[in-house]
Amino acid sequence: MELRGALSWACCLVSSLYLCSAFVLPVGNSAPAARIQDPAVGQFWHVTDLHLDPTYHITEDHTKVCSSSKGANASNPGPFGDFLCDSPYQLILSAFNFIKSSGQQASFMIWTGDSPPHVPVKELSTDIVINVIGNMTTTIQSLFPNFQVFPALGNHDYWPQDQLPISTSKVYEAVANFWKPWLTEESIRTLRTGGFYSQTVPSHLSRQSLRIISLNTNLYYSPNAVTLNKTDPANQFEWLENTLKSSRQNKEKVYVIAHVPVGYLPCSRDVTAMREYYNEKLIGIFHNYSDVIAGQFYGHTHRDSIMVLSDRKGNPVNSLFVAPAVTPVKNVLEKQTNNPGVRLFQYDLHDYQLLDIWQYYLNLTEANMKEEPSWKLEYILTKAYGIEDLQPKNLYGLAKQFAVLDSKLFLTYYKYFFVSYDSNIICSRECKTYQICAIMNLDQISYTDCLKQYGL
Ligand SMILES: *[C@@H]1O[C@H](CO)[C@@H](O)[C@H](O)[C@H]1NC(C)=O
Ligand SMILES: *[C@@H]1O[C@H](CO)[C@@H](O)[C@H](O)[C@H]1NC(C)=O
Ligand SMILES: *[C@@H]1O[C@H](CO)[C@@H](O)[C@H](O)[C@H]1NC(C)=O
Ligand SMILES: *[C@@H]1O[C@H](CO)[C@@H](O)[C@H](O)[C@H]1NC(C)=O
Ligand SMILES: *[C@@H]1O[C@H](CO)[C@@H](O)[C@H](O)[C@H]1NC(C)=O
Ligand SMILES: [Zn+2]
Ligand SMILES: [Zn+2]
Repeated sequence: MELRGALSWACCLVSSLYLCSAFVLPVGNSAPAARIQDPAVGQFWHVTDLHLDPTYHITEDHTKVCSSSKGANASNPGPFGDFLCDSPYQLILSAFNFIKSSGQQASFMIWTGDSPPHVPVKELSTDIVINVIGNMTTTIQSLFPNFQVFPALGNHDYWPQDQLPISTSKVYEAVANFWKPWLTEESIRTLRTGGFYSQTVPSHLSRQSLRIISLNTNLYYSPNAVTLNKTDPANQFEWLENTLKSSRQNKEKVYVIAHVPVGYLPCSRDVTAMREYYNEKLIGIFHNYSDVIAGQFYGHTHRDSIMVLSDRKGNPVNSLFVAPAVTPVKNVLEKQTNNPGVRLFQYDLHDYQLLDIWQYYLNLTEANMKEEPSWKLEYILTKAYGIEDLQPKNLYGLAKQFAVLDSKLFLTYYKYFFVSYDSNIICSRECKTYQICAIMNLDQISYTDCLKQYGL
């Protein structure tokens, strides 16, 4: 561990990327790879928020390019999409083709939901939603046969959107069938009834197993009317605690994957992504099992952000990551959005500690101009921020550095938050406070304290 850290660090300090590339496995776009040389480093992909818009097509009348622009003129539509539209199939295909041809060896992929487009409820139906999820599943399965994927359901993976139910449904049944090649019988069973499951990842190197817990946090999402006033929808909390308890007994490590993240939205004041009651409850469980949980991975916001969970004494205990979307879509009134992104995580194969993120992106403007999708490395997290790995204490230290007045590192973070959509973007003092408080505080008491501390 130590040696590896020292090596890659030295390599990055002294050299530009190219000096490193002598040791490197062949990688698409000549990306460097120092850590991958160490056989104790595992890798997995995270893709999220594909949001396929099957209506996307290039046409003279820009209001007709995609349903997801909701009558607005597409801004500059090209073969790989438009910032006012959800993903054309070509864009999604280019993302998976990039992953396939990147030369990166990964043990598995996590896929955290939201396949259908953002369109009015009446333009979709249960059958269309199932069709779109089926299309995405088949696309992945045919490009990556025999490759382990762990999916999670998103709030758009249902009709009507957000209303994911607390017992079995046509959609849960359908995805249970689609995802059979990836999941065990026990996973399929709980997926059918509540939209969640847990499953271990086979390992050759470690005596300790890694368990993926795929939560259906859409049950806790504020617009979900089905779960209003319910204390434990689908008994998922009870199941989660039992699963974590038995993981602890069996000395497993756990990665939690889900669509809607815990914690506070980084662009608003005092707004949780879930209903506050559910957020508090989940944070309570995560506090109690922070020794078992080695990482948490979410989607839904479409932006690239980190969070650090601290224990009740204020010590950082868990690292959480929200991955940016593949869809570039924005509302016509919004100024900012994201370029399409996918990411690769590196982890220690012995204890599943998270080591690094390689964030890749497509410059959509450029891809459309050149009519060619060249996915590129956007950043390597440890290099971009000068930290050793993704341990909670290091991310916590980083957030402290962000908080400093005029922090350059924070400007970098804010640019990557939008996947380099706009490098001239400015974050006001308030904007920055919301970001910092959302990174470092996931429960109500500490978040509110944080706002106070900054005088907001
Ligand atoms: C998925 O949908 C796209 C267009 O929306 C279509 O071109 C493609 O053939 C479909 N693929 C599968 C596997 O259904
Ligand atoms: C779309 O663009 C056309 C041509 O510029 C314009 O006439 C029309 O008003 C625009 N429609 C909307 C909804 O903005
Ligand atoms: C939920 O509880 C509130 C307050 O107790 C009540 O006003 C409301 O009708 C309840 N909603 C449902 C759907 O049960
Ligand atoms: C966390 O553990 C404490 C002490 O064992 C217990 O009282 C509490 O109910 C647990 N919290 C949750 C949310 O499970
Ligand atoms: C994306 O491409 C456009 C057009 O070539 C360019 O103006 C812009 O700077 C590029 N963005 C990034 C982050 O490289
Ligand atoms: Zn989404
Ligand atoms: Zn979502």
